[in-house]
Amino acid sequence: MTAAGTDGATEGMDVVDLLLAQHARIEELFRTVASSDGTARRDAWQELVTLLAVHETAEEEIVHPLARGSIDAGNDVVDARLAEERQAKELLKDLVDDGIDAPDFDVRLSRLKTAVLEHATREERYEFVQLRAAQPARRLVALAAAVRAAEAVAPTRPHPGVESATANLLLGPPVAVVDAVRNAIRDATRD
Ligand SMILES: [Fe+2]
Ligand SMILES: [Fe+2]
Repeated sequence: MTAAGTDGATEGMDVVDLLLAQHARIEELFRTVASSDGTARRDAWQELVTLLAVHETAEEEIVHPLARGSIDAGNDVVDARLAEERQAKELLKDLVDDGIDAPDFDVRLSRLKTAVLEHATREERYEFVQLRAAQPARRLVALAAAVRAAEAVAPTRPHPGVESATANLLLGPPVAVVDAVRNAIRDATRD
């Protein structure tokens, strides 16, 4: 796997397919962090932190602006999703700041998991379905390239030998990942 969240053949998938695959991977990583220890736990936590930064930034840059203008009550739907994302980001930031060894990490991880997964369910139910109905399929397929660009800039499990810039990014705070991902998406979607 070279990119956060999605493996292998993603050709032909649309932007919603890729975000749904990331939702599934995020859920899997929450389970792994909660149920493992040692290096496996740390690696899964690092991947989760990076994937959440990649995923929410991709949604904020690509999908939410499109939904705002093209689905029924788009502004209300998107504003509600952004409020959920802000709340989850605060929980995530506190967890990252205090580290995986904090005594109440598991309790707060569980709180973050609930917030993130409930948010993802609402996106799928109230935003993604409507977006697919409102936008031409070829446009949604074209926008998948921007999500791939976001994943490429912050791979969660880099291969040996290609990790220098990535390693620095992964060691940095989520905000560094967010900045790099945002720039990559803007480059990929520039006309
Ligand atoms: Fe989101
Ligand atoms: Fe999402």
